[in-house]
Amino acid sequence: MSVLPIVTYPDPILERPCAPVTAFDRRLGRLLDDMYETMLAADGVGLAAPQIGVAEQIAVIDVGDEHGRIELINPVVIEARGEQVDVEGCLSFPGLFGEVPRAKFVKVRAQNRRGRPFVLSATGFLARALQHEIDHLRGVLFTSKVVRYCDLEELEG
Ligand code: CO
Repeated sequence: MSVLPIVTYPDPILERPCAPVTAFDRRLGRLLDDMYETMLAADGVGLAAPQIGVAEQIAVIDVGDEHGRIELINPVVIEARGEQVDVEGCLSFPGLFGEVPRAKFVKVRAQNRRGRPFVLSATGFLARALQHEIDHLRGVLFTSKVVRYCDLEELEG
């Protein structure tokens, strides 16, 4: 496994919709492993493929809860309910944080690294991470949804 460089804004790859994955092969497995290692090395809780320069519908998430490592291939939000507003950041925007409204509950359909479909339901912080990463795969960045930016002193205070 290797830690890959993270693409930062305003690289245009971050705002382009990603292509669906069609080949569930060893290359995909290696990419997922590298993305997970890259995410951990950057101290992140989620990473989408365009953030490492790959315009494909692939994301990894680990918010440190009982779900552990989550791998999402071709994910789609199939249900969303409620609203939560909380502070969000992104590895492609180092040092930038803002309050973003998100659905409180989401149900996501995706495929695993072998191509097998699964459905994942989540609330709270995991639901937020899922929405943030799936947005990345559509070329949508959290900055387009921020209702209020936070300054660092406020967060540390
Ligand atoms: Co992000």
